[in-house]
Amino acid sequence: MTNEPIPELGGYDEPSLDKAFAALEQQARSDAARLTGDEATEAYRLQWLGRKQGRLNDVSTRWLKAAPPEAKKSLGQRFNALKATVEQLLEQAAGGGPSDAALAAEAIDITLPGTRRLLGAEHPITRTMNEIVSVFAALGYSVGVGPEVETDFYNFESMNFPPGHPARDTQDTLVIANQDRRPLRDRLLLRTHTSPVQMRTMERQPPPVRIVIPGKVHRNDAQDATHSPIFHQVEGLCVDTNITFSDLKGTLDHAMKALFGSDVKTRFFPSFFPFTEPSADVQISCIFCGGKGCRKCKHSGWIELLGCGMVDPAVFAAVTEERRKIDPSDDAYNPEKITGFAFGMGVERIAMIQHGISDIGHFYSGDMRFLEQFP
Ligand code: DAH
Repeated sequence: MTNEPIPELGGYDEPSLDKAFAALEQQARSDAARLTGDEATEAYRLQWLGRKQGRLNDVSTRWLKAAPPEAKKSLGQRFNALKATVEQLLEQAAGGGPSDAALAAEAIDITLPGTRRLLGAEHPITRTMNEIVSVFAALGYSVGVGPEVETDFYNFESMNFPPGHPARDTQDTLVIANQDRRPLRDRLLLRTHTSPVQMRTMERQPPPVRIVIPGKVHRNDAQDATHSPIFHQVEGLCVDTNITFSDLKGTLDHAMKALFGSDVKTRFFPSFFPFTEPSADVQISCIFCGGKGCRKCKHSGWIELLGCGMVDPAVFAAVTEERRKIDPSDDAYNPEKITGFAFGMGVERIAMIQHGISDIGHFYSGDMRFLEQFP
């Protein structure tokens, strides 16, 4: 610690004062930088701020009091600044605060580039699913969801697949174990399609209904290039007065153009689903060859994309039966008064065509080399 007495002032001119105070500040700082522990800090405090023998007290008596009146102001300012510095140094030492040297070592060079955090991105399945949903949202459709663990009733029976119906075989089902004591209707399974949410929607809400239902579905299918035991669908349902097959065609033709470009054409092929009558498969003109025929469309010029149809009156009957459990006079879904159409599409299939992906497994592999292609 500095022990030498406060020197004589070389003069009261500014340069002399600057020099004298700079020397003191330098001493105060280097003493403070070496402080370790409370005792040393207290000694430092006494040495600089002590009432009787402190160095600042000496400065005050030797320099300030002896100064000619015209120098007092600038001397006083320097004195106060030095005192503030010493107090600050003490505070840092007492609080165990970092020394200037320590601070300098920790200093950040703000001119260096920062650490970039990788931004996440929407999974291509999520993206395509949202895209499909927004096409219908723009037509005034609402969006709904339903449970992935579903009852036999909602998944099959209400959708007009009665027990033992051969159409059940088209959807090889994963069931929850140990439910043999329950009636078939209440047994739980992993839903094989999003169609049961049609029933769940109509149970709760009278027509008009315009809704799309995105979601995950499960089937006991072996994985290959185009199949996965878990995949995604978007279901659609429209029920109102005077809904016709033309409405269905116009809506889906618009949706396909919105998803694949205004050049695509659609065509409707007769098909079968238990819950629609008539039923159709929708094909779009091959987006790879423009309809000329290529490997992707098996040289047919067309790609099969989704199922649809007019809601079967048997479904409305099941809806009415459920609604009458709450209101016995309910007649909201009387097929004499209302009609509807429904459709269901596979999200993976659409995403594969949009991006030219040939193996469905890429979606679930978590391989960054695949995912990074969808920034
Ligand atoms: N649920 C059907 C399936 O998974 C797809 C489907 C077809 C849904 C026709 C519909 C529809 O709503 O009208 O195979």
